[in-house]
Amino acid sequence: MRVGILTGGGDCPGLNPAIRGATLRLIRDGHTPIGILQGWKGLIEGLTVPLTEERVDEIIREGGTILGTSRTNPFKNPADVQRILDNIADFELGAIIAIGGEDTLGVAQRLYVEHGVRVVGVPKTMDNDLGGTDFTFGFDSAVSVAVDAMDRLRDTAKSHARIIVLEVMGRYAGWVALYAGIAGGADWILIPEVPVDLDAMCDYLKRVYYGGKRYGLVVVSEGVKLPFGEADEAGGVDEFGHRLLKARAVGARVARYIEEKTGIETRDAVIGHIQRGGPPTAFDRVLATRLGIKAAELVSAGQFGMMAAVRGMEIVAVPLEEALRALKLVPHELYEEARQLFQRVALQPQRSGPSEVAPAR
Ligand code: F6P
Repeated sequence: MRVGILTGGGDCPGLNPAIRGATLRLIRDGHTPIGILQGWKGLIEGLTVPLTEERVDEIIREGGTILGTSRTNPFKNPADVQRILDNIADFELGAIIAIGGEDTLGVAQRLYVEHGVRVVGVPKTMDNDLGGTDFTFGFDSAVSVAVDAMDRLRDTAKSHARIIVLEVMGRYAGWVALYAGIAGGADWILIPEVPVDLDAMCDYLKRVYYGGKRYGLVVVSEGVKLPFGEADEAGGVDEFGHRLLKARAVGARVARYIEEKTGIETRDAVIGHIQRGGPPTAFDRVLATRLGIKAAELVSAGQFGMMAAVRGMEIVAVPLEEALRALKLVPHELYEEARQLFQRVALQPQRSGPSEVAPAR
């Protein structure tokens, strides 16, 4: 069978290992893998490339996606859906493996349910917010970048006796901020799932600072809801209706608030798309490879409308419908667990105020 493979939505480390795993298993099962370029856009426009063992052999360590990606939503235009159906027939594609997050897989699910297209999904997103799977690949790599940033920021925050706020990605879910905050030893973590209490944070940071630490690190998720309204809504929305957060400058606004409230010099850093590039971690390489292999296995078994997923140590199949039912947000208990680390009760009460120990400038 000729099987199309596409990657859609925001890229992340692990896409190439997933393409590689699926390709190698498809070939092993006697199928012909066909790469579809630029996500659903490529299937609308009929853009394909051959996928061979030689082509995928060395991509295990490459970030990005050799197939390219886009945030194209064919269901915005019925003619595009028809073009997809025509191209599937013209290219004689017996099945499609769609590698993506909730948007890309949402399109796959609709093509399956509404048009009988034989699809299998592979979950990816650095946000780690897709349902039906314990983890998505891309997340571990993004967290590693964020933790590296935290380590570097700690050095400079300490040298200058400053507070530094690190803004990380995470549109609806704060997984990256939470993990980076725990692994990087943050003094406070702000995520979209938990209402922010900036004043409590500032009081705590002051206690930490003047209690002797004389610097502080805060991690904030770009999607966090701030109590003082939106500074800039100019980001616009993508084809799936998601607000683009690039203009919100959440980290900068939190930093400004901290400086005003505490009187401690505060800076912010945004790592943005740096989290989405570079070689995947070993964890992501293995996870993505195993998910890719599973997707090919599902194609061979004729199990369509399914998604490969990881549950514990096992790679399993779950209905796409189940995976797409709700976003996987950070559970309350997990945030509370992390809170023990950054809201320490045994912390000494404030020993000296801003007037007594002036922060170095
Ligand atoms: O793919 C998820 C994500 O990385 C979000 O965390 C972020 O808000 C968004 O994509 C950014 O999208 P773009 O790459 O289109 O700017």
